Amino acid sequence: MQPVSLVIFGASGDLTSRKLVPALYQLYQRGRLPEGTRVLGVARRGYTSETWRAELAASTAQYESRSFQTDLWQRFAECLHYQPGDIENPRDFQSIRELLDQIEQGRPATRLYYLSTLPRLYEQVTTQLGEAGLADESQGSRRIIVEKPFGSDLESARNLNHALHRVFSEKQVFRIDHYLGKETVQNLLVLRFANSIFEPIWNRNYIDHVQITVAEEVDVGSRGAYYDEAGVLRDMVQNHLLQLMMITAMEAPARYDADLVRDEKVKVLRSVRPLEGADFAQNTLRGQYEGYRQTDGVPANSQTATFVALKLNIDNWRWNGVPFYLRSGKAMSCRTSQIVIQFRTPPHMLFSEGPRKSMEANRLVIQVQPAEGIHMHFQSKVPDAGMRFNLSHLDFRFQPDRTQSMPDAYQRLLLDAMSGDASLFARSDEVELAWSIVDPILAAWKSPATPRLLSYPPADWGPAGAVDWIERDGRSWYDVCPVF
Ligand code: BG6
Repeated sequence: MQPVSLVIFGASGDLTSRKLVPALYQLYQRGRLPEGTRVLGVARRGYTSETWRAELAASTAQYESRSFQTDLWQRFAECLHYQPGDIENPRDFQSIRELLDQIEQGRPATRLYYLSTLPRLYEQVTTQLGEAGLADESQGSRRIIVEKPFGSDLESARNLNHALHRVFSEKQVFRIDHYLGKETVQNLLVLRFANSIFEPIWNRNYIDHVQITVAEEVDVGSRGAYYDEAGVLRDMVQNHLLQLMMITAMEAPARYDADLVRDEKVKVLRSVRPLEGADFAQNTLRGQYEGYRQTDGVPANSQTATFVALKLNIDNWRWNGVPFYLRSGKAMSCRTSQIVIQFRTPPHMLFSEGPRKSMEANRLVIQVQPAEGIHMHFQSKVPDAGMRFNLSHLDFRFQPDRTQSMPDAYQRLLLDAMSGDASLFARSDEVELAWSIVDPILAAWKSPATPRLLSYPPADWGPAGAVDWIERDGRSWYDVCPVF
């Protein structure tokens, strides 16, 4: 691999200190960072390379307290450079270019531009990169990484795609959804497509429904102003939950190749039955946790949803008649992201002593985080009790040694972007299709009664109405916090 120069725009922000630099440091520590990697931070703040390094040393020591070693950090930090810059100023992009030429010492290098600024500046940075000749690939690959949010609706996402495509080809664009960098999400691809025992039953003949829950124990904290504009649909569903749904529902691609994988994911979104008319009131449910309106930056009469439950149908041969229930919320009982594949009950029950009516059918729980793993639920006989049976489970833990933590998603995503593998990044059509599913719901929710905003106490599983909502379909939520 060519040496890599990573330019971070918005380098003084939280993402850089909390996620990007700790991920780079971890990669360095594990010997995974490509030889000759350089990082150039750009922001308005007047740091020098030395003061930026000192700030990052403190934040990395805080976020990576278990692995932080001062001497190792010092060696790593030699690759960190800083250049004050104003996105509005074309001359600053010329200075970036000169500085890159200087630190690369005239040798060919792959350049990655990471957009971690305020999202409204993404288009401008892209245009300036183009005008400064920084997208030119004659001296090595040039790629642009775009942090979420990718637009705030279909129209703005399209505009951003157009702005990117005026300067970069689609192959050069890497749109981040950090859920795709999570080990368990990738493991779902392996579970489905590197085994032969799951795929034959992964369809409407055996599966009753699918539940995808991303519950967060935290509330919106200090992000009130951002969150009140975004709400749970933009913040979690348009990206993370739809990504989980695509990976659960997609067909097997011919090969593990960025475009083939994304072609299959896109087909899932194209098959989602559009909601219309009464569907918005019936198939969507929204809630807001008590106390949300007292958060800094949130208006006292805010109607923003912090909880959502959606029922989506995927109209294709595999999934016809199998609803996908998507649910996400802040201030919930616990932090858990899980995909529950709920199988059908056996077609005929021959044991008269079983729990019959209340018998739970097989279930495959893919625990995305925390306590990453897979649990298979099945009936087994109670010893010495006639033919009575009860629900048992087989558990697979991703990381049996609990002293080690799973690599953060950003490590994998940064490495993939460095090597040019876009399989775990969203393509332009994917983000636009995801918005075309979310936009009509956002529009319907403008009307206060479609559906009514329900309130819920913090540290619960969302509004009580969400229980009745799914029970109307004869189903129930799998409300279980992960066990470590
Ligand atoms: C982000 C959202 O994209 O994902 C946050 O903006 C949310 O609101 C976060 O808390 C959840 O990510 P994770 O990896 O902690 O599940």
